[in-house]
Amino acid sequence: MPPKPERTLVVIDDDRLLCDTVRHGLIGLGVRVLTAHSGAEGLRLCAERPVDVVLLDQKLPDGDGISFCGPLLERNESAKIIFITAFPSFENAVQAIKVGAYDYLSKPFELGELSLTVNQALRTIDLEHVAQVQQYQGRRDSDRSVLWGGLPEVRRLVGLAAANAAPVLITGQTGTGKTLVAKAIHFQGHGADKAFIAVNCAAIPENLMEAELFGYEKGAFTGAVATVKGLFEMADGGTLFLDEIGEMPLHLQSKLLGALDDQQIRRLGGRTLKAVHARIITATNTDLATAVRERRFREDLYYRLSVMHIAVPPLRERLEDLPELCRGFISQIAPDQVLRLEAEELAALGAYAWPGNVRELRNIIERAILVRSSNSIYPSRLLGPALHADQPPNPTVAAAGPRPLEAVEREHIRATLCHFNGNQTHAAKALGISRSTLVRKLKRLGFSD
Ligand SMILES: Nc1ncnc2c1ncn2[C@@H]1O[C@H](COP(=O)(O)OP(=O)(O)OP(=O)(O)O)[C@@H](O)[C@H]1O
Ligand SMILES: [Mg+2]
Repeated sequence: MPPKPERTLVVIDDDRLLCDTVRHGLIGLGVRVLTAHSGAEGLRLCAERPVDVVLLDQKLPDGDGISFCGPLLERNESAKIIFITAFPSFENAVQAIKVGAYDYLSKPFELGELSLTVNQALRTIDLEHVAQVQQYQGRRDSDRSVLWGGLPEVRRLVGLAAANAAPVLITGQTGTGKTLVAKAIHFQGHGADKAFIAVNCAAIPENLMEAELFGYEKGAFTGAVATVKGLFEMADGGTLFLDEIGEMPLHLQSKLLGALDDQQIRRLGGRTLKAVHARIITATNTDLATAVRERRFREDLYYRLSVMHIAVPPLRERLEDLPELCRGFISQIAPDQVLRLEAEELAALGAYAWPGNVRELRNIIERAILVRSSNSIYPSRLLGPALHADQPPNPTVAAAGPRPLEAVEREHIRATLCHFNGNQTHAAKALGISRSTLVRKLKRLGFSD
């Protein structure tokens, strides 16, 4: 496993002894501890670098700790703020949580208690990262949810889906624009001002998925030190986008079906049901119908999710979209420049197989813009030579002369994906690696964003 990046914790407290105790006490957790003795100094520290956890004293020489909570989160929105106070009270705790604090410790605290709380905060950060939970809000994201190219049938269905709240299943090869279609539905629909929560089911470890989706009550399991809302609740009124739905384990499929049917969820360890009205959009690049036949995917859930089905075609079946897509990406990536793409270039791009679809096109254009030496760009020169649609892949490395290992790996993966029409599960099997390893490699090699 790659080493985790070092975590930074800032203690903001005018009690210097406490700051030193924290610094020594947390050595074992491998976090870098920085100290500040006033709110202003703490804010400055947090503005200068990404900070993971902040221990914030309630009474500071230059103001109330609570008043620094908002500005701290503005500078580091994913930071977990843990309040420390010598005057614990229920009202104080409620107020701290209301302004966005993650947890609450009362002075004096045991080092064990501190380590546990900080560790939990770090674990939550990991989870948020692993889950690839993204919340798209505001104009910027709605502007970026515009589809370029023809796609008449996809557009018609997006319009239809936006006008009602039925579940939508989006299918298509990797990089065809499924996530973009999901965003387009959200931003054209009634809940556009509410959250769009995207979660990649393939990226969450199976044992964490249930807690992520449905949330948990404090004490529900070891380590559940606070009550946490699940993604379903977070998406209430808006959209919950479950990407790679084919990877959802069977026992959670039943729970998802129940939540969809009842429009209610129960947090892990919770006694009461909570009403949630989130529109569910799912996507997959695997063949769900086959998964249903092979009993890896529940048939009833499949029908429930695919009330509307949008199939996004691969790029090589809509090469007429190439000019508009290229123009769009050029103006998105280099908005202040006038760059040209010669007609021969477009023709060369049209001869390519595009196993990574629109995402691959975007990446190639981005690189061509980076390496250009004039106002013209030549993305086709960056494509693997052996992978044009009408040519078989080059079988030997020797035939192509010495090249960096990464280039060979890139080409081989591309060829294999192309062979299996972009199906990652089959390609991974043929390559002798797990699907998650393939997904990681695709990311590293620039096939995915
Ligand atoms: N029609 C389109 N117009 C503009 N941009 C597009 C279009 N289709 C795809 N893109 C862009 O291509 C990239 C890949 O699209 P997206 O992430 O939606 O693909 P995907 O099908 O969800 O891929 P995956 O299966 O890997 O999740 C994104 O940067 C997206 O904005
Ligand atoms: Mg996607």
